Amino acid sequence: MAERTLFRGARVVDPAAGLDDVMDVLVQEGGVAAVGSGLDGLGSTVLDCEGLVLAPGLVDMHAHLRQPGREDKETVETGCRAAAAGGFTAVAPMANTDPVADNAAVIHEIRDLAVQADLCNVFPVGAITKGLEGEFMADIGEMVEAGVRMFSDDGRCVPTARILRNALTYAKTFDDVVLAEHCEDASLAEGGQMHEGYHSYTLGLAGAPGEAEEIAVARDLAVARLTGGRLHLCHLSSARSVELVRRAKAEGLRVTAEVTPHHLVFSDEDLVAYDTNLKVNPPLRTAEDRASLRAALADGTIDAIATDHAPHAVEEKEAEFDRAPPGTIGLETALGAVLTELVGPGLMDVRRAVEAMAVAPARILGAADHGGPIEMGRPANLVVFDPAASWVVEPPFHSKSRNSAFLGRTLQGRVIHTMLRGELTVTDGKPTR
Ligand code: DOR
Repeated sequence: MAERTLFRGARVVDPAAGLDDVMDVLVQEGGVAAVGSGLDGLGSTVLDCEGLVLAPGLVDMHAHLRQPGREDKETVETGCRAAAAGGFTAVAPMANTDPVADNAAVIHEIRDLAVQADLCNVFPVGAITKGLEGEFMADIGEMVEAGVRMFSDDGRCVPTARILRNALTYAKTFDDVVLAEHCEDASLAEGGQMHEGYHSYTLGLAGAPGEAEEIAVARDLAVARLTGGRLHLCHLSSARSVELVRRAKAEGLRVTAEVTPHHLVFSDEDLVAYDTNLKVNPPLRTAEDRASLRAALADGTIDAIATDHAPHAVEEKEAEFDRAPPGTIGLETALGAVLTELVGPGLMDVRRAVEAMAVAPARILGAADHGGPIEMGRPANLVVFDPAASWVVEPPFHSKSRNSAFLGRTLQGRVIHTMLRGELTVTDGKPTR
């Protein structure tokens, strides 16, 4: 591997530095050495980037890498390879592994696996409650000492306001620690296979109403107000949740929110063929909900896009709809989905997409080496993509699983190079290792 790499003539889109211009970027010894025009490529590997966009490497603050415990679905290595192929340089795997990441030993194990794979920076999320059981607080202090900055019981909602209050109050005593909530009132959502409404009635599937999310969002925002703690809301799916977040932000609460590519692209109407790859939690809601999510992402009410990459075994997803587990893989399709469905039709520009997929998640996660700015001396964590290249989503995937909601769709926008600390993890669209 050459020590110097010159990206020549790329459209550099870097919201963190307020940059959107055709330029060269020179990388040396893991860092950005220069950004400018007509840079000297002597002694460098020169990558021609005419017509391509160069941006800070993408950051996924919400993925499931399944290791330890379900290595048949994904490992830290395969998940990181899928992430790199999708343009990501940092990933935060959720704590619902087996054993649960509710103590420093599991956190260290995941981090060690990530260091061995050397494809992405991995920021393991710690559980809020022991075993995700919602009864006793996990060893948050021990995990903070091990470097964890985000905690979540994702897959489940913290069941009582009291435990959430205690956790937010405790988390507040540390700098920059954030609790990420999977907002779902279990008593209302229980048994629900999809969004409750016209389409669940016609398909004959049990529904989970939007209120299951909205009740939890309202409760959690109230607890954030009570404690002054820092709260992040995972995978919002409903228009009324968005309204609650909008008001909470106007009030000055310390709250951030994310949305997934699949909730931005699909709605409950798409379930007509009982495609289990579209069974996700929270469920795909109405076209009106989707329109609100898109608008909220465009105007910044929703800060970030997160994949909720959720690999599942083929035989599990081939089961009847009500027996299949919820989740879609998403790392390899996130950028293409956002460029095709949001940037293409003019709902937002590339700059806002990069902000939502790199800058904002890096800031929320505290991943200081990621999300730009692309400036001299900064670590070279970068993505280069072709906004015009079309491709069809189909196996094989770099992920071990193939349960993609986007299977068979044509996406416009393809990752060409991904660079982690100055080393190409993906070049010409292919992982280097
Ligand atoms: O669809 C989902 N799958 N949503 C979740 O919250 C959990 C995830 C999983 O772990 O499979």
